[in-house]
Amino acid sequence: MEFETKAIHISQEPDPTTGSIIPPIYQTTTYVLEEIGKDKGFDYTRSSNPTRLALEKNLAALENGKYTVSFSSGMSAISALMDLINPNEHVIVSDDVYGGTYRLFEQVLRKYGLDFTYVDSTNENNVKEAIKDNTKMVWIESPTNPLLKISDIKKIAKITKKHNILLVVDSTFLTPYFYRPLELGADIVIQSTTKYISGHNNIIGGAIITSIKEIYEKMKFIQKTVGAVSSPFDCWLTLLGIKTLAIRMERHNSNGIRVAEFLSSNKKIRRVIYPGLKNHPGHKIAKDQMTGFGGMISFELNGGIETGIKLMNNVRLCSLAESLGATETMITHPTSMTHAEIPRDVRLKIGITDSLVRLSVGLEHVNDIIDDLKQALNKI
Ligand SMILES: Cc1ncc(COP(=O)(O)O)c(C=O)c1O
Repeated sequence: MEFETKAIHISQEPDPTTGSIIPPIYQTTTYVLEEIGKDKGFDYTRSSNPTRLALEKNLAALENGKYTVSFSSGMSAISALMDLINPNEHVIVSDDVYGGTYRLFEQVLRKYGLDFTYVDSTNENNVKEAIKDNTKMVWIESPTNPLLKISDIKKIAKITKKHNILLVVDSTFLTPYFYRPLELGADIVIQSTTKYISGHNNIIGGAIITSIKEIYEKMKFIQKTVGAVSSPFDCWLTLLGIKTLAIRMERHNSNGIRVAEFLSSNKKIRRVIYPGLKNHPGHKIAKDQMTGFGGMISFELNGGIETGIKLMNNVRLCSLAESLGATETMITHPTSMTHAEIPRDVRLKIGITDSLVRLSVGLEHVNDIIDDLKQALNKI
């Protein structure tokens, strides 16, 4: 079955009692037993819920994985996954990860004795060289947030397999429509379903997808025990969003290409980072391992921070907001917003300058997005 068809139909059968083409939301806390020891597969919604199960099965099918465990946010999914790592064990991480992931690793997990090394994973040799005897996981974000760095998952998977290390890929920026790391050798995929997967700026959610039964069982245990579960309503909205994921991603991509080309041609802009541009260092790997470039663009203005702030304050159609991957075009200042918790020297070292602007190109008509950026650029 093709991706679009899976997105619409897997675990989305009409309701058998009424014929309702959209399955109902099982907005319930608990389930009535026929007698002691005899339930219908559900006992309490923190453990399992039919709407959440439908989302989990659907997402597993889209990633070509066997199992999904769904959480109440991308961060709670990441946090659950880190339960696989014990005190005194080591994790290698892409140096340009989402600021919240960095904050969790550095400000929460380090104090429990977990060790993290950050490397530029666009060169797989950096990953290889960082391996220690106690390395248990390699954590790749690709494309990264906000510098859109691309890592070669096939090459990194060869290294992790050889050393018996788990390879995790946070592929939130491209979704399984454009990018399926499990097919390239990754063991686990992380999605912040808050973004493109649900796609409408109306839920917070996260998911862990894998084909390894042992990891699935551990994550089910954490889901039920820690309890950061996604609500039935959020799962239902996410399933609704997934029905149009393919068509939305196509438009994010085509709008992204047009906006990146416009920004590249503007003299007030010093540098545009978009994997779909031929001058992007990861362009070739993106073409080989991904089927689209998505709608995320980062850029720097000639005038530095002041001009960047002026631009962001002058947009009218684009929303000055955190988050990404939804119908509305959103403009963000990573330094003061999404990546504010990363120490300035660490940020500057990896290239997140104060003047970097991140754009999540939405689904408005591309001419209107470009016109808005044009008028804002004219004012600076
Ligand atoms: C790449 C990436 N991973 C994970 C997260 C965390 O997801 P959530 O905000 O759903 O907790 C984000 C949030 O922006 C993100 O950009």
